[in-house]
Amino acid sequence: MKSIHLDDGRKISFLHHVCEKENAPTIVFVHGFPLDHSMWAGQMPLREVASLIMPDLIGFGQSDQVSDGVSMQQLADDVAELLQQLGATKVIWCGLSMGGYVGWEFLKNHSEMLSGLVCCNTRATADDEKTARGRRVAAAQVVETGADPVAAAMREKLFSKSTLETKPEVVASVVDVIRSTAPATIAAAQLAMSKRSDFSELLPQIEVPVLVVAGEDDVITPANEMQVMAMEIPGSTFVELSEAGHMSPLERPEAFNHAVVHWIGQ
Ligand code: MLT
Repeated sequence: MKSIHLDDGRKISFLHHVCEKENAPTIVFVHGFPLDHSMWAGQMPLREVASLIMPDLIGFGQSDQVSDGVSMQQLADDVAELLQQLGATKVIWCGLSMGGYVGWEFLKNHSEMLSGLVCCNTRATADDEKTARGRRVAAAQVVETGADPVAAAMREKLFSKSTLETKPEVVASVVDVIRSTAPATIAAAQLAMSKRSDFSELLPQIEVPVLVVAGEDDVITPANEMQVMAMEIPGSTFVELSEAGHMSPLERPEAFNHAVVHWIGQ
């Protein structure tokens, strides 16, 4: 794990694997909520075909804690600054769920750095008022209760039945990450997601290649909703992974990596 300091002094940690292959693309993998770079453990084999950058967003993993709230735009700007410091001028953004929400901001504000998008288990719409209210309640609660109840509740929602039954070590690693995430970060991210913009109108205007990956058993961002989103994006590729829930790259790493390699090679 490496780290750099952003211009304002905050430390951001990341994994970086440089691919020796000529003309290999760079993929930046941006984790979901409330996780860190370790959710991409199954994507390490992709270093044979691409350089990989896997940051911990501010507040998460080994990066500095959140001091004053966050926004999806700020998180995107932080990653852009990290990439600039690393000399990565063009990247494929691969974001899962919240990492996808941050990706829309990257597309809007840093499009000159973007050569493609992999949208995993995410959506372009903003929260409706009921969901936003639920997040505000959850943000207030987590500061009182700590992260353990969040981990317990999310455990049931993040994975397919198959993963829950057959891959307990995968489930346990994600639960551990959630439990070790600072309640203040969880609260700040919930509030930031509740205020995020709606990017649906942007979808038909996307000019870079896009791969949309859904999990057959995802109850948070259902596959049929993701397929509708993919149909709005000109020329996009849609892949639905069987026996995968919301954490599809971690639950079905080989199938996911195969889809990415195939899409890059097109
Ligand atoms: C995530 O996986 O990042 C979250 O489920 C996003 C959300 O709560 O909308």
